[in-house]
This record gives sequence, structure tokens and C-alpha cells, in this order.
Amino acid sequence: MTIDAQILSALREPAAVSGAELSKRIGISRAAIWARIEDLRKLGYDIEAGPHVGYRLISTPDVLHADDLTARLGRTRVIGRDIRVFEQTTSTNDIAARLAQDGVKEGVVIFAESQSKGRGRLGRNWVSPPRKGLWFSILLRPKIRPQCATQLTVAAATALVRAIQSETGILPEIKWPNDILIRGKKVAGILTELTAELELVKDIIVGIGVDVNIDDFPVELRKIATSLKIETGATVDRPSLAAAVLRELDRDYARICVGDFGELAEEWQEGCTTIGQNVSIRLGERVVRGRAEALDGEGAMLLRTEHGHLERIIGGDVSVDKNA
Ligand code: BTN
Repeated sequence: MTIDAQILSALREPAAVSGAELSKRIGISRAAIWARIEDLRKLGYDIEAGPHVGYRLISTPDVLHADDLTARLGRTRVIGRDIRVFEQTTSTNDIAARLAQDGVKEGVVIFAESQSKGRGRLGRNWVSPPRKGLWFSILLRPKIRPQCATQLTVAAATALVRAIQSETGILPEIKWPNDILIRGKKVAGILTELTAELELVKDIIVGIGVDVNIDDFPVELRKIATSLKIETGATVDRPSLAAAVLRELDRDYARICVGDFGELAEEWQEGCTTIGQNVSIRLGERVVRGRAEALDGEGAMLLRTEHGHLERIIGGDVSVDKNA
């Protein structure tokens, strides 16, 4: 952990901590601690200091700061060991792909306060306004077959559901394969991209976009998109939500790595409103219709087609057929 991350982590402890204590724990002088605290204050961290009470963290700014995210996250197995924050980028998935090529260790997480070319599935644009959401990507290298990559999307979806519920009290639904909805409107999406060699995944990039504090959407999105702020009526703490998602995902990633996907699939099916519904799935030019029956061990959907066959679908654009 960097010095700032260690300071912020200590300041999150319930009791105030003195300059002498911080200096001893971190191994730098009290003057150096004071200088770091001054810099954190300039970034918007409200840190109270009293001669006899020590330092106390009063409030934090609505910015994503790598050291703060590290301090909030605490120790994880893989995800978030390295966190990098950009003010602006084209797409965090692009940055993660570049880091993958450079051989950066798995678990690195790239956040951007805004994206100029945020992308969704099927080549769609993903609106990513500054400081209004969480736009981030995680680089992973699980030793799994390419067919199992959907497991990571499933893990990201369940992690998002748990984190959103714990941070806002709202239980979102999952729409197969990668949408998180509240009252039928999309609040978050997942874009999983991978490079693979014949039988083994090389790099997986899990890109996650959460509409956190967006107040209003462009007219064309108003009927289908929402934000946590619109749903709760209050500004949601973005860094706290980000840390919660990463913590949940780190736990589930460990399960996937040891081949333990069963429980996760069950949890996913419980939260997934697509299962049990009659759906149409667009697969390029082809549209298949049927009943979404279940999720298999690799994360694919098992669809009972209108002709009675069981078809295994690994991706596509789903719409629920209300009148079928
Ligand atoms: C979708 O629902 O179609 C997926 C949306 C994924 C958006 C996120 S935002 C962070 C990451 N970078 C991108 O360009 N896309 C993903």
C-alpha cells in the first residue's frame, strides 16, 4: 500500500489516530505525515486534527482516488491489488487491454471518471459522463476454457446485485446475460472481452458500467435507463459502492478459479428475471424464440425453443415476450 492508502486506512478506524502513532506504523516522520494529510485535504478529504485527539476523517470527496479505493477495499486475493484511476479515457476496456499486452499482473482495476468512447455490447455506445457513475475494467487471467468466460459475467452480475443492495437497500434484477435492472430499467451493464488460445483463456477483461448519480438521461434512453440516484432519491457514495463491488467480485473470482461455479450459478438464477420467461433472442441475423429454462455450468442459457428443442445460447440480445 502507498503511504496515502495507509494513512486513509488508519483514518477509517473508529478511534482517532495521533500523528505519532501514524508515524510509527508507517515508518515516516510526523512532519511527512502532516504534509501528506495537507495534500489529502487539498483533494477534498476533510480531516480534523486536534492536539490531544489526533487525526479524524470527517468526510471524503466525490472523487475516485486510487489510494482511497485501496484503503476502503482492504486486503483482497486478486482483484484490486493494483488500482489505477484516469480522469478521462476512451474506454477503460482499451486501457486494460493495453495493460494485458504489457503483461501487467491480473487483478488490476482501471477506473475512469469519464469515457469518451465507452462501449456496450453489440457495438453500442455507453454514455459515461464525468463523476456520475462507475466506469471500470478488471483484467483477469483465470485458467479456464474460453467457453467458460460467461462465468465471469455471471460473477460480475451477482457481485453488482449484492453491492447495490448493501449500499442502497434496493435489490436489483439480472437480465440475461449482462444487464442489471431496477423496476425494469437498466442501471448497470457488463462487457466481458477476452483473448484466448485454443483451449485456454489468455486475458479476460470485465468492463462494468454503473449509472450511479446520473440525474437525467437523454430522451431516447429515459424509458429504458435509470440511475441509483433516481431510484433512491439520494446521491450514492461512488467510492464506497466501487469498493463493495470489487470485494464481492474478488470472493467469487476465487470460487471460479477452483472450479466452484455451482453456488454462484444458483444465486444468479434466483436473481435473474429472464429465467422462466418466454423470450426472443437475436443472434446476429437469426432470432430464436422459446422459454429460458436455466443456466448451465459454463454460464450459458438453456432455451427450450418453440419447436421443443433445448438450445444452448452463449450471448445475444434478449427481449421478454410478455404475451407469448
Ligand atoms: C452493456 O450493457 O452493453 C455493457 C456496458 C459496459 C460499460 C462499461 S463502462 C466501463 C467499461 N468500458 C467500456 O467501454 N465499457 C465498459
